[in-house]
Amino acid sequence: MRFLPHDRDPSVLVVGAGYVGLCLGVLLAQRGLRVVAADVDRAHVERLRAGRCAIAEPGLDELLREGLASGRLTVAPDLSSAADCDVVLLTPGTPIDADGRLDSSQLEAACRDLAPRLRPGQLVVVKCTVPPGTTRTVVAPLLAGHGLRPGVDVGLAHCPERLAEGQAIEQLRELAVVVGGIDVASAEAASAFWRRHLGVPVHPVADADVAEAVKLASNWWIDHNIAMANELALFCDAFGIDVMEVVTAANTIPKGAGRMNVLLPSVGVGGSCLPKDPVMAVRAAADRGVELRTIVTGRAVNDAMPGHAARSLTDELRKLGTDPAGATVAVLGLAFKSDTGDLRRTPVAPFVECLRRAGCTVRLHDGLAEPERVRDLFGQEPEPSIDAALAGADAVAFLAGHREYRRLTAAGLRAATRAGCLVFDGRRYFTRDEISSLHDHDLRYRGIGR
Ligand SMILES: NC(=O)c1ccc[n+]([C@@H]2O[C@H](COP(=O)([O-])OP(=O)(O)OC[C@H]3O[C@@H](n4cnc5c(N)ncnc54)[C@H](O)[C@@H]3O)[C@@H](O)[C@H]2O)c1
Repeated sequence: MRFLPHDRDPSVLVVGAGYVGLCLGVLLAQRGLRVVAADVDRAHVERLRAGRCAIAEPGLDELLREGLASGRLTVAPDLSSAADCDVVLLTPGTPIDADGRLDSSQLEAACRDLAPRLRPGQLVVVKCTVPPGTTRTVVAPLLAGHGLRPGVDVGLAHCPERLAEGQAIEQLRELAVVVGGIDVASAEAASAFWRRHLGVPVHPVADADVAEAVKLASNWWIDHNIAMANELALFCDAFGIDVMEVVTAANTIPKGAGRMNVLLPSVGVGGSCLPKDPVMAVRAAADRGVELRTIVTGRAVNDAMPGHAARSLTDELRKLGTDPAGATVAVLGLAFKSDTGDLRRTPVAPFVECLRRAGCTVRLHDGLAEPERVRDLFGQEPEPSIDAALAGADAVAFLAGHREYRRLTAAGLRAATRAGCLVFDGRRYFTRDEISSLHDHDLRYRGIGR
């Protein structure tokens, strides 16, 4: 293998110890590799070195501490160890600018920093989400700046990261890695690396451009599918039928290579990827004269959901004889999805804003989100406990289905809240039995499309 050592396990440098880089780094260290996780954010590096990471991902804290204690994982504020590593994983952020274009500044800075430290025989793998052609036309020329030729002297491949937050660690242990090299030897080395050292299958594609498109296609599909589910919820609302029953039954027919798979409606779509990656695809296509209408429509539908959900809640309060102005709403779950504390572009922020405009007093709780980040985003102190959030509330809005919220019983909710309290379901997905139990306990239920 031209770009991997023959006689020993490779050592790894992860450039960007954020969500993706850190999860990958701790897992590779657990599997026995020496890993340096480097990041330009000094405060973040110091926190990580102390065994603390502000990323709420099940299993991550333990693996971080285990890696540091074993000595296999180290955290660095720069790339000074690059020459000692055999494999470099590039995982900086790839946001979009105001026009939706890739903002490649973090990725470019990482490449400029890395280029003078590269030595022949190393393998560089880009994990970031970028438009097709970025590895070949942006990364490769920057890495070549100091005389080494990507594809000849150093390997270069694109392997998009496809993990889902909240399940990152378990998914990284199982998901097939899509591999596209800028040449055959790079692709072979990258495939061998993931197979041997992460222990996962690989799915080779023709080249790096294809691998980059695969990731955009995935998030395009997910975002659009959720948009369909969200509009289906509005449709079901109009007919007084339960969208969950419709989705479950509809998904039983075979379609394509698997089954029909309509995803679930919710308070909205957030996080660092789904609201961004499809927009990046729209802009990249537009720059080549192609108009992508499905993405634009899906984005508009999903962006409208927080407002729609907040209006559903206040309408329901009015029906129950409670004026939203002055009503107390306990919001359980502030993160953009269940079982993560990630507040990036969470749809709960615009939802809460709508409630405040309607005059509601909002109490906030999320056991996984950093209190400091909650304060920054919502301009309000989070409640210290679920009980504190619920006490005497007129409505409880479940906007994430975190494990701790799934343990709450109808009797417990009834005891903590006001008589006839409204339970609003934005992502908790109560079962029909649970909804019956809520009614039995004199609680009212309202969901998205339910
Ligand atoms: N978060 C996800 O769930 C997810 C899933 C799949 C793919 N991705 C993609 O993976 C990439 C990384 O995403 P993320 O969520 O981990 O981002 P992140 O913002 O959590 O982490 C990026 C890290 O890179 C660091 N960084 C920036 N420039 C650097 C440089 N020049 N040198 C060293 N470190 C640098 C930042 O300080 C930050 O800690 C993005 O392209 C993203 O679209 C993310």
